[in-house]
Amino acid sequence: MEPNSDALVFFGATGDLAYKQIFPALQAMTRHGRLEMPVVGVAKSGWNLDQFREHAKKSIEEHGGLDPEAFSKLCHKLQYIDGDYRDPSTFDQIRKDLGNAARALHYLAIPPSLFETVAGGLAKVGLAKDARVVVEKPFGRDLASARELNHTLRQFFPERAIFRIDHYLGKEPVQNLLYFRFANSFLEPIWNRNYVRSVQITMAEEFGIGGRGKLYEETGAIRDVIQNHMLQLLSLLAMNPPVAADPEAVRNEKCRILHAIRALDPAEVVRGQYRGYRQEEYVCLESQVETFAAVRLHIDDWRWAGVPFYIRAGKRLPVTATEVLVDLKQPPQTVFGDHNVPPRSNYFRFRLSPDVLISLGARAKLPGEAMAGEEVELVARHQAKDVMAPYERLLGDAMRGDASLFAREDSVEASWRIVGPVLGDVVPVQEYAPGEWGPAEASKMMDGDGGWQDPRPTPPAPC
Ligand code: BG6
Repeated sequence: MEPNSDALVFFGATGDLAYKQIFPALQAMTRHGRLEMPVVGVAKSGWNLDQFREHAKKSIEEHGGLDPEAFSKLCHKLQYIDGDYRDPSTFDQIRKDLGNAARALHYLAIPPSLFETVAGGLAKVGLAKDARVVVEKPFGRDLASARELNHTLRQFFPERAIFRIDHYLGKEPVQNLLYFRFANSFLEPIWNRNYVRSVQITMAEEFGIGGRGKLYEETGAIRDVIQNHMLQLLSLLAMNPPVAADPEAVRNEKCRILHAIRALDPAEVVRGQYRGYRQEEYVCLESQVETFAAVRLHIDDWRWAGVPFYIRAGKRLPVTATEVLVDLKQPPQTVFGDHNVPPRSNYFRFRLSPDVLISLGARAKLPGEAMAGEEVELVARHQAKDVMAPYERLLGDAMRGDASLFAREDSVEASWRIVGPVLGDVVPVQEYAPGEWGPAEASKMMDGDGGWQDPRPTPPAPC
């Protein structure tokens, strides 16, 4: 078993990611007794420890709520180093503040251009040895830059010590998808090209880019969510059963399926931009960046040959919801002469957010004389109260050295290979009105496969 990390150092401690995700996760870990170690924040903001603690408090109040007891315990552990990453004395100070800790987890919540400086600084004071490092998505901007980043990190850390976060993998319903697939015997016989007509994933967000104009101009929907969250999700849906429950067995199968996905053909991609995006702060008036993308993917392997996989993701769509639909083929005959069978009557629907459910679409007989049916949905609903947030789960896993829910170097590179041909403005961007399902062309691209299934509001649970 891998030894646990014995300290947490997070760089970019006064930044956006720390504010929205890391502090709330640290409070939750403290509450659950999972953070018995020094915690050192590093940044260059000209602050002292009190200002840093005040900042942590505000972050937690805004994101999840303050638990006074847990927060006070966290505060006792928190240390802050105000230092320049290019200055060797910053790393001497970290070394000093860590005391006897010998196996720290270093969280790089900083731009990738600083990875080398920080990792090199840590190595010089002996803090890279036996340590782990967590980095954020998107990992690179394309295949070449991802390889370069991997090369940079590998100079200082072995692959087993590098944890590339994709917070989607830390979500409970995403975990459940993996569990559901391999914990039920009825699924495997039909989970293939003989029974599945198509698979679609919709990640819809009603909101726009908010204050993230600068970052979004560098990314766009394909780099922001398709290369990572969506392809990771797809690999969980399409992978073969892992040969064991260990992290590498799962990651091997996910990676195998990513390798089998054909690189995107620009003719099978629609890029959209919501009207008003160019007026957002820090956005260029002629921006060609997509805030919406719809893609058709093909998996060249025995199980999935001929089954199209669709993904669409975008901002300023009609709802905020993430949903997977696995559409099953129609029965070979309509034995009962039932003429009103809709084009999609057998399917699995996995609602991943905001609510969580798994449902099976089927047909059942309508009461009465005629052998006529109606559509029904058999729904399994999850209403867990205290679900662990992704960052708490993922930080805890990284501290234990469990890489199951982190993206491996080869799968990150495989994902960049898939989206590579459509990065930039190879496919012209089309405008759509806020509140619509992207440009009209995106709606049409699924016509031959039964059309998109728009996530609909979930009816209230029966009492
Ligand atoms: C982030 C993207 O990785 O995921 C955002 O950068 C997106 O653009 C977010 O809104 C969605 O994550 P969640 O957990 O809010 O569904």
